[in-house]
Amino acid sequence: MVNNSNTVFDCPIIHFPKIQNRSGTITPIQNELEVPFAIQRVYYLYDVPGGESRGAHAHRELEQVIVAVSGSFDVTIDDGRNKKTVSLNRPYFGLHLKPGMWRELSNFSSGAICLVLASMLYKESDYIRDYEEFKIFKSDLIQRFL
Ligand code: TYD
Repeated sequence: MVNNSNTVFDCPIIHFPKIQNRSGTITPIQNELEVPFAIQRVYYLYDVPGGESRGAHAHRELEQVIVAVSGSFDVTIDDGRNKKTVSLNRPYFGLHLKPGMWRELSNFSSGAICLVLASMLYKESDYIRDYEEFKIFKSDLIQRFL
């Protein structure tokens, strides 16, 4: 469902379980349990050159959980009114991005791997890639809720 009323304050950090023993650690992530939606797609971002940033778009309906499974990077989220930067640097923390959130990923450490758990299959028409269009999308919704 299209939802443009979400704010940056609706995007929590999820703490995933850690099963630790002498020989290492497992973090399990299960559909609709640790992640509060049905996962339809998994992708990961890697080999990001130093100084590059990714994202710079929003989604109309897609929900995502973003995890730094290796290394670290920053995620700046913007709801059209408020901005928040979250540093992800542990494989057992996930940032839950609700629909209607402009995001930018930056400051990738060398070898960083960004795992994304997504609620929908890839759909280009779900993207908003123009910031002005995003502001209109958000203000439309805000007006409808007033
Ligand atoms: P995009 O989501 O814009 O990447 P980022 O936000 O990390 O900069 O995707 C980059 C390209 O990859 C774009 O042409 C679409 C394609 N793509 C797929 O085909 N399937 C996918 O699941 C994803 C995430 C991207």
